[in-house]
Amino acid sequence: MFKPRGILIAGNWKMNLNRKETEAYFSDLKNQSGSFLNSEALKLLKSRSLRASLIPPYFSLEKAREKLAGLPFPLYLIAQNAHWEKKGAFTGEISGPMLSEIGIHSVLIGHSERRQFFGETNETVRKRAESLLEQGFHVILCIGETRAERDAGRTAEVLTRQLSEGLPGSVGRGAASFTFADKLTLAYEPVWAIGTGLTASPEQAEEAHRVVRGVLKERLGAEIADRMPILYGGSVTPENAQAVLSCENVDGALVGGASLKAESYLALLRAGAGVLGS
Ligand code: PGA
Repeated sequence: MFKPRGILIAGNWKMNLNRKETEAYFSDLKNQSGSFLNSEALKLLKSRSLRASLIPPYFSLEKAREKLAGLPFPLYLIAQNAHWEKKGAFTGEISGPMLSEIGIHSVLIGHSERRQFFGETNETVRKRAESLLEQGFHVILCIGETRAERDAGRTAEVLTRQLSEGLPGSVGRGAASFTFADKLTLAYEPVWAIGTGLTASPEQAEEAHRVVRGVLKERLGAEIADRMPILYGGSVTPENAQAVLSCENVDGALVGGASLKAESYLALLRAGAGVLGS
């Protein structure tokens, strides 16, 4: 199937897998990739039509980085969050320059767990994304509605507001905006589907992704909107990945639980390759 934006599989480890477990995970990735990825899948990974990413906790990032070279395919590491300031009195936070010092150039921003448990708002999401894009980072910006909002028929309205308040202002129309826009990926994660085993149906995911792409078109113009990847997240597993990844406007998956074991992560990559190769 032709997917103009390719497929990105991003495994969000959340607060799981310490340095020792990270080491074991990477040796499993290396040793078992042959059983999951055929030469076609490896070709897709090497050409970046299929992109493999992991989002380990801060301490495990550096360990993961040491292990990248041993893998038979390229894998990109992403941090789970970063502050908008480059340094200063912000206890518990970490900055862009600290991440680039260890070779990390991508950051996840605004995950619903950050919003739900740590007071992240559309405004702080925008500030983080804006600053990190300006520092040259790739940013994955997360949005999504709660169960109550969906039940009240407010999904489109919530997504539109999260985007209009949360999209970095530096991604506007005009020449410079292209540089930023190419470094921005969105992730639609319905809060009710995260870690619950309840997945949005492919129809629900496609419908929400169309809303998101529509808002992007209005804000950024059709050319940028058509190029920007939009990931789906929420209880994605190797079993249901193919259905959701086959949706026209779904350009990848942000996966929590099912990315915690190397075998299952490799099975997700295989599903992505299957969609691209079908
Ligand atoms: P889940 O998490 O796959 O465990 O539902 C997804 C996420 O929070 O990114």
